[in-house]
Amino acid sequence: MKKITIAIDGHSSTGKSTLAKQLAKYLGYVYVDTGAMYRAVTYFSMQNNIISNTYFDIEKLKNELKNINLQFVFNSDLGFAEIYLNDVNVENEIRKIEVSNLVSKIAEISEVRTKLVEQQKAFGKDKGVVMDGRDIGTVVFTDAELKLFMTASAEIRAQRRFEELTSKGDSVSYEEVLKNVVERDEIDSNRKDSPLIKAVDAIEIDNSHLNREEQFEKVIKLVNEIVKN
Ligand code: DC
Repeated sequence: MKKITIAIDGHSSTGKSTLAKQLAKYLGYVYVDTGAMYRAVTYFSMQNNIISNTYFDIEKLKNELKNINLQFVFNSDLGFAEIYLNDVNVENEIRKIEVSNLVSKIAEISEVRTKLVEQQKAFGKDKGVVMDGRDIGTVVFTDAELKLFMTASAEIRAQRRFEELTSKGDSVSYEEVLKNVVERDEIDSNRKDSPLIKAVDAIEIDNSHLNREEQFEKVIKLVNEIVKN
């Protein structure tokens, strides 16, 4: 069966990565979580006094980019690849709200985007890849055979993210998560370089009222239509 590229973009906390992982597992494809890459650069920046809630040293970030090495290493127990920052697994650290609160600022910097996009293109060069993010269908793989754009109401997304974080033991409030979800969408959609927009040829999926199985069925139908042709 022919291998394709699946690009999944959309608003934050719309379950892009859950769907991408399901698809990659079912199709035997590689899954690449590009949000994890922006998060890992943010985590590095927090550790190296480049960014905090009160300052942001953009020049230092640009100089340090060459010292940031990102890799995905497949974890067979989990069934997906985890991200390593300079040989250290940072999968848990990068999901914390402190990182979420700063990541959109890091993702606005063109030099960061250029570096990460180049790596993402290399990951997907042989097709058979499911990649999720904000600019996959519009910048990274403009020729992807299937482009999805996922959305849901901000309140539903915040509730899902809140449940995910609290189940991991993070002490956050629903209001804080909602504020973060709304602010990130605002910055991601309005930045100059590669703003979050729906590609003209993307299929929109609003999953406010779809469960995981219904959504998966819907997308698999789309994939089958493409691969059989
Ligand atoms: O998918 P996520 O919530 O883990 O992404 C974290 C942030 O990274 C998000 O707020 C915007 C940014 N991002 C981006 O600008 N481009 C991508 N391809 C993926 C993520």
